Amino acid sequence: MNVLFVCLGNICRSPTAEGVFRKLVLESGLSGELGVDSAGTNGFHIGQAPDPRSIAHAAQRSIDLTTLRGRQVVPADFERFDYVIAMDNDNLRQLKALCPQQFSGKISLLLAYGDNTQYREVPDPYHGEAADFEVVLDLIVSGCRGLMSHIAAHRQTPANTNLMQQQ
Ligand code: 4NP
Repeated sequence: MNVLFVCLGNICRSPTAEGVFRKLVLESGLSGELGVDSAGTNGFHIGQAPDPRSIAHAAQRSIDLTTLRGRQVVPADFERFDYVIAMDNDNLRQLKALCPQQFSGKISLLLAYGDNTQYREVPDPYHGEAADFEVVLDLIVSGCRGLMSHIAAHRQTPANTNLMQQQ
């Protein structure tokens, strides 16, 4: 199972989501089963490390973003990834425009999986302040926890596979 997180620049929100989700994957013991990556809908920051503010705020929660590098979404991502997770509605629209129709069911908003009723989108913190980066982290942690529960509940275990073969 492969998960791709997507934002605009791939230097603030989606690398943060990648780092948070990687940690959850490690903690849940599913490292061998789950691949995680992130990308941007634009190509402004290809090859760049995440924004220093995102790196610093994530580090305060023991999440290391320093090795991540920006890349742009490519059409092949929709085949390769099982979940393509957008941070906001603008990302969602861009992804749907780029996605071959047969894969459009793979695209969703991160906060569709969270338990926060106040926010439906993870707001772009790029022009914001420290508090905005904290809100982004809180929202991403909530969404990633919900996504992990969703994937854990729907993944193919040997028991599930047997059940499906019996039906
Ligand atoms: P992100 O934030 O989409 O969360 O990575 C942004 C980063 C850079 C820009 C916009 C948003 N930018 O315009 O360069």
